[in-house]
Amino acid sequence: MSRPIVIGSERSEAGLPAAMAILARGGSALDAVETALRCCEDNVDDHYVGTGGLPNAQGVVELDASVMIGSTRAFGAVGAVRGFPNPISIARAVLERLPQHSLLVGPGAELFAEENGFERAELLTDAAKKLFHTALQTSGESVEGEQTAAQQGDARYRQSALELVNHFAPHDGPWGTINVLALDSSGELVVGVSTSGYPWKYPGRVGDSALPGAGNYADVRYGGSACTGRGELSMRSVGARAIVTELARGLDPTEACLAMLADAATLPDDFRAELRCLALTPDGRHGAASGQDGSVYVVMTDSSTEPEFLPRSVL
Ligand code: GLY
Repeated sequence: MSRPIVIGSERSEAGLPAAMAILARGGSALDAVETALRCCEDNVDDHYVGTGGLPNAQGVVELDASVMIGSTRAFGAVGAVRGFPNPISIARAVLERLPQHSLLVGPGAELFAEENGFERAELLTDAAKKLFHTALQTSGESVEGEQTAAQQGDARYRQSALELVNHFAPHDGPWGTINVLALDSSGELVVGVSTSGYPWKYPGRVGDSALPGAGNYADVRYGGSACTGRGELSMRSVGARAIVTELARGLDPTEACLAMLADAATLPDDFRAELRCLALTPDGRHGAASGQDGSVYVVMTDSSTEPEFLPRSVL
């Protein structure tokens, strides 16, 4: 019998209380993770996930999500899905109802969602559309000078995104994925990730959030891990899997996260931006890391009255 716990990245606090309510009454980690991420996807004030997510370079919202089960390493995911507000539930349906596959993208994922009864919805809210139009007017950003390497990478990314937006004109018109990791009373460990991906990304771009080993990994023998931030870096470093490998070697969750970030920091990347990660072990230990000060992760146990914000260790 394990003591239930759920942890998440920044802004997961919108969903963690609902997840902990499920875990506290003996519910499954899979239900807890899906429920938490659905709350986040439905939070229209969050512009990095679900409804209200920022659009791609053509002004269309495209969503990625995944879920992984620690005991079986079964994985379900969708990428570049348009018009469905809860990609985490479609990812779960891929895992449970299409076990011959793990990942569906674009029109195929949308066909599967439709066949399985998921409702279509408009995802581009007025607030996100306004942010998109505002971004089109801020093209004079400096990429040199006193900025850190991560800030310069961010600025270069935004400049390139604006060039893409202009490339696709005329059109109708900072990022932050959410991770949730839960351990239930039966000892099952599940990791879920949901995102609208990089704002103004190239249409069809799928990030680490939909990829096993990159943005999401769970192995109940050692632990689970997930990433937010620059997905191309966690894809290239196979970040979430690397963290679980470090847990298997005996590092504690914070040390394992820092080891992955140190490796990713060695990769050349003109668009380098913040990469963050967090980890949870099957005995309930947790930790998180980031490249800069001030970022947090969120934790709830069955004795919590509200989400607790803990600082991430800084590389
Ligand atoms: N980490 C989220 C993304 O790169 O899309």
